[in-house]
Amino acid sequence: MFITFEGPDGSGKSTQITLLSFYLRQKGYKVLTTREPGGTHIGDQVRECLHAVDNKGMAAVAEVLLYSASRAQLVHEIIRPAISAGHIVLSDRYADSTLAYQGYGRGLDLGDLDRITRFATGGLKPDLTILLDLDVQYGLSRRAAGGLEMNRMDLQTLDFYRRVREGYRELARAEPKRWVVVDAERPVDAVQADVRRAIEERLVDR
Ligand code: TYD
Repeated sequence: MFITFEGPDGSGKSTQITLLSFYLRQKGYKVLTTREPGGTHIGDQVRECLHAVDNKGMAAVAEVLLYSASRAQLVHEIIRPAISAGHIVLSDRYADSTLAYQGYGRGLDLGDLDRITRFATGGLKPDLTILLDLDVQYGLSRRAAGGLEMNRMDLQTLDFYRRVREGYRELARAEPKRWVVVDAERPVDAVQADVRRAIEERLVDR
């Protein structure tokens, strides 16, 4: 089973994934967690290039192809083998980040992005995608308070992040069977309870 977590910056994805992976392991499931961009030796090198603040001149198309290259390696090296070995794979971001950030955020054509993504992933789609949805400013201030390193993608305008958030919500509306939208502006435990519920419903169905 392949589950992805999406949301604007500062939505708490990594905290929720950590809590969920402990919980699922305790229940006896084999769990593999990963993140994008990166998650492999090659992908981590691509991540450095994407995040370097002095790469301000990066063309939007080059950006898409780098995220996609990192994703292609991750699917090939980690995600497909783990799914075949019976793991529940939890990924912090996946292809929907490209649609939200490069599509809705940067304004690249969604059809083109869809084709590039299908090429990069060999068509691998998540069984379930959790959207941790929250007010953009709230997320950014949470992220700043967390003292995390600033990267090139943190230098965008507030309008950019607003488009990203709206983009995510539109993607979720378009494919309601795959997406579960969770209000992430609440305490960690309340969000985690909703996340677990969504996953347990899917595990029962199997
Ligand atoms: P990261 O430090 O991993 O942030 P977060 O904790 O928010 O996931 O940085 C990843 C950044 O890259 C984030 O701003 C979203 C962006 N991104 C894209 O623009 N397109 C993509 O396809 C992916 C995977 C990420």
